[in-house]
Amino acid sequence: MPSKKIAVYPGSFDPITNGHIDIIKRGLAIFDEVIVAIARNSAKRALFSLKEREKMIHETMGVTKGVRVDIFDGLLVDYVESVDAGAVIRGLRAVSDFEYEFQMAITNRKLGKKVETVFLMSTEKYSYLSSRIVKEVASYGGNISGMVPDVVIKELKKKFAKKKVSQEIKDGF
Ligand code: PNS
Repeated sequence: MPSKKIAVYPGSFDPITNGHIDIIKRGLAIFDEVIVAIARNSAKRALFSLKEREKMIHETMGVTKGVRVDIFDGLLVDYVESVDAGAVIRGLRAVSDFEYEFQMAITNRKLGKKVETVFLMSTEKYSYLSSRIVKEVASYGGNISGMVPDVVIKELKKKFAKKKVSQEIKDGF
């Protein structure tokens, strides 16, 4: 029996967006299992804790067959090897993504010869979308429906309501 084809879809997922979900679904059409792997040591300062991010992904994708959610430490190539995955999935939205993705893919290839990066193009509907844009719009109370799952809308509202209150306390109202 052929072994299971496993791919790791790594990222910050701060928070997961509909663009990420689109890539996970595309990944599932190619691989038997897609591990959505949240990086613990991502260079970016996160709005949500790792546990919060994991919970939002679980609530969104939890029942989807072939999807696993995990948190990883250290180098991606070491994690990929530890879960017996043959590939890394990354989404490409526009040409502007290419340089950073190219650097990462080549670095990972230098670090771990067996890791192949597979680039999947997101649907044009979400080609503008990023977690950063979603957070910015949400921070000003803008409409983010259609950009992220409902659970994320709820969590973003809570997060920014708390931030507003703590800022008001700082400012002395
Ligand atoms: O969603 P992001 O922030 O673009 O994801 C970037 C991520 C987490 C995939 C990348 O920073 C990563 O792989 N971090 C783990 C550390 C590592 O292996 N670095 C070397 C490859 S550049």
